[in-house]
Amino acid sequence: MDNPPTLSPRLKALADLVPVGKTVADIGTDHAALPIYLVELGLISAAVATEKAAGPYRVALTQVQKSGVAHRIAVRLGDGLTPLEEGEAEVIVLAGMGAGTIISILEGDPGKSSSADRILAQPMAGSEKLRAWIREKGCLLNEEIVREGGRLYEIEVFRTGRANEVFPAMAWARSLPPEWRTGAGMALIFGLGPILLAKRHPLFPALLEEKIRQWERILTVLEKGRGGKIGQKKEELLSRLQLARRLHNCWSEETPVR
Ligand SMILES: C[S@@+](CC[C@H](N)C(=O)[O-])C[C@H]1O[C@@H](n2cnc3c(N)ncnc32)[C@H](O)[C@@H]1O
Repeated sequence: MDNPPTLSPRLKALADLVPVGKTVADIGTDHAALPIYLVELGLISAAVATEKAAGPYRVALTQVQKSGVAHRIAVRLGDGLTPLEEGEAEVIVLAGMGAGTIISILEGDPGKSSSADRILAQPMAGSEKLRAWIREKGCLLNEEIVREGGRLYEIEVFRTGRANEVFPAMAWARSLPPEWRTGAGMALIFGLGPILLAKRHPLFPALLEEKIRQWERILTVLEKGRGGKIGQKKEELLSRLQLARRLHNCWSEETPVR
């Protein structure tokens, strides 16, 4: 290969989470960089790249045609999982979209979502909402954080639709000291990333600092408001902030949560 393909750190982190040899569907592929990289390097043998918008669909088609692996990547136009056949993809990637869009794509076709062995999701916003959804509807398998251009991106690896599946992150969280097993402590840990915590991800403190700053900004806005609901929201946010600050303070100790 004259020029081996390269990816940005965010897309490379996603590529690294794709098991070798699986069939992949990249939903909302835009430039199709991820499937082209995986197929060109021989990490997977075939992929489907989909787009709901005509412009990015044409870009994906052009990029795939220019690559040397056009015969192995099907580019399809359509919303969410509609362009896929059930069971066609062992791995479904949903990257660069909001958590709400990711959830509505998966809920739009539960049969196709649960036919994948694993789903890789990289939300641009709303990772806590996505984790809450995974906790209710699926099984969290892995988590990653990657820094690109001064920004942190979170990646969730999970599968959906299998009842009574053991949730590894849940088992880890149950082994924590009692105070972190209460409603608020558990909700915080599951919102921020139980696997990130369990594996002591080196970028977790930086991510936590970002969230703390974000919640402090929201609290400042809420402080100006009045009314019963606002008061309740303020109290919830304040107790979440206190827990998050404690989590940050005890990060350097050997046990991540005390
Ligand atoms: C910011 S780009 C991300 C591209 C690529 N996945 C990445 O991570 O670099 C988001 C893309 O998702 C597409 N998209 C958004 N909602 C979609 C949906 N419901 N079905 C398919 N594609 C969608 C958009 O058209 C857009 O091209």
